[in-house]
Amino acid sequence: MTQNNPTTLDVTLGERSYPVWIGRGLLGDAARWRARLRGRHVLVISNTTVAPLYLDRLAHGLDGLQWSSFLIGDGEAHKSFANVEGALAALAELGATRDACVIALGGGVVGDLAGFAAACWMRGIDFIQMPTTLLAMVDSSVGGKTGVNLPAGKNLVGAFHQPRAVVADLDTLATLPDREYHAGLAEVIKGAAIGDEPFFAWLEAHADALAARDETAVAEAIARKLRYKAGVVARDETEQGERALLNLGHTFGHALETAGHYTTLLHGEGVAIGMLLAARLSERLGMAAATDTARLLRLLEAVGLPVAVPPGMDAQQLLALMRLDKKNTAGTLRLILWRGIGKAEIVAGVAESEVLAVLHEAGASR
Ligand code: NAD
Ligand code: GLY
Repeated sequence: MTQNNPTTLDVTLGERSYPVWIGRGLLGDAARWRARLRGRHVLVISNTTVAPLYLDRLAHGLDGLQWSSFLIGDGEAHKSFANVEGALAALAELGATRDACVIALGGGVVGDLAGFAAACWMRGIDFIQMPTTLLAMVDSSVGGKTGVNLPAGKNLVGAFHQPRAVVADLDTLATLPDREYHAGLAEVIKGAAIGDEPFFAWLEAHADALAARDETAVAEAIARKLRYKAGVVARDETEQGERALLNLGHTFGHALETAGHYTTLLHGEGVAIGMLLAARLSERLGMAAATDTARLLRLLEAVGLPVAVPPGMDAQQLLALMRLDKKNTAGTLRLILWRGIGKAEIVAGVAESEVLAVLHEAGASR
C-alpha cells in the first residue's frame, strides 16, 4: 500500500458489488472515487467537527458537478430523524435526481445517517462512504446497515442500503482523538475473535504497534478486519444467519452503553467489555477454555481498552436492558458466545442466573 496504490477489497453482491479502498491521500484522489458517480448531483453530509478538517480535500474533486453540503452537530444525539429530514430537504434544494449521490464524510454517526437519507430519497439513491474514524473504517462503513436513533432506543429505524464505494483515507486518522482510536480497535479485535484465529494471533503480536498507532500495523489491521467482514456480508447480507455473529459482545455492550446514558462509554468500549463478558459466560457454560478468556483480556488491555463494568452499574438493570435486544426471541436470551478464539456462535436460552453471575464478577452491583 502506497499513496497512489491503496489496498482494494471488493464486497461481492452481484450488481451491487462495490470496492473498498484503504490508503493515504484518497480524499484528494478524485479520479478514483468520481468514477463511481452516475449523475451530476452530489450532497456531502458531514458534521461540524469533520467538515472543517477534511471537506476541502474532496471539494476540488467535485468541480463541475452540482453539489452542496449538509452538516449535522457532533455526537450520537444527532443521529436523528430531524437530521434525516434536514438532509432530504438539502437534496430537494439541490434538485437531486435519481442518479444523485450522497457522500458520507465522517464517523459512524454521519455514515449511518447519510446512508439512511440516501436509502429514503426517491426510494434509494447512491451513496459513498468516506469514513474518518477507525471504527467507521473497520465496521460501520461496510455492509450497508444504515439508520438513526429514536428517543425510544438506538438504531430502531433503518434500512439495508449498500454504498457504491468505501473510501478509507488513512490520513484522516491523524486528527482522531486517542480514545476514539482505541474504541475502533475493539471492532478490529471483534472480527478476529469471532472467526479468524490467525488474525487474533497477529493482533497479539502487533498489540504494542497498534496501541502506538503505527501506520503499517494500522493499515494491515483495517484490511484484515474488512476482508473478514466483507466475506460475511457477501454470504449473509441481511443477517439471516452468520452476520448475527458480528454482534459478539453487543448485547452486553449495548446494555452497558445505555446504562451509562451513552456518555460513560463509547460504542467500541462497550463492545470491548461486552466481548470479555461473553467470553466469561462461555467459559462458565463449559463452552470455552479459561485460556481463551485470558488471551482476550490480555489483548484488550494491551491496546488500552476498558475491561470492567463501570462503577455504579446495577446487574439487574443491565439484565433488563439485555432482555430488549433485537436478537432475543419471546422470553429467552439469545447471545453470541464462543467456543474459543475464532469460534463464535449463537446460543439461545441462556439462563439469566448465569448472566447475572458474570455481571457480578465483572463489578456490577447487586
Ligand atoms: P462518531 O461518528 O460519533 O465519531 C466519533 C467522534 O470522532 C466524533 O466526535 C466525531 O466528530 C469525531 N471525528 C470523526 N472523524 C474524525 C477525525 N478524522 N478527526 C477528528 N475527529 C473525528 O462515532 P463512531 O465511533 O465513528 O461511530 C459510532 C456510530 O456508528 C454509532 O452510532 C453506532 O451505532 C454506529 N455503528 C454502525 C455500524 C453499522 O454497521 N452501520 C457498526 C458499528 C457502529
Ligand atoms: N456491525 C454489525 C454488522 O454490520 O452487521
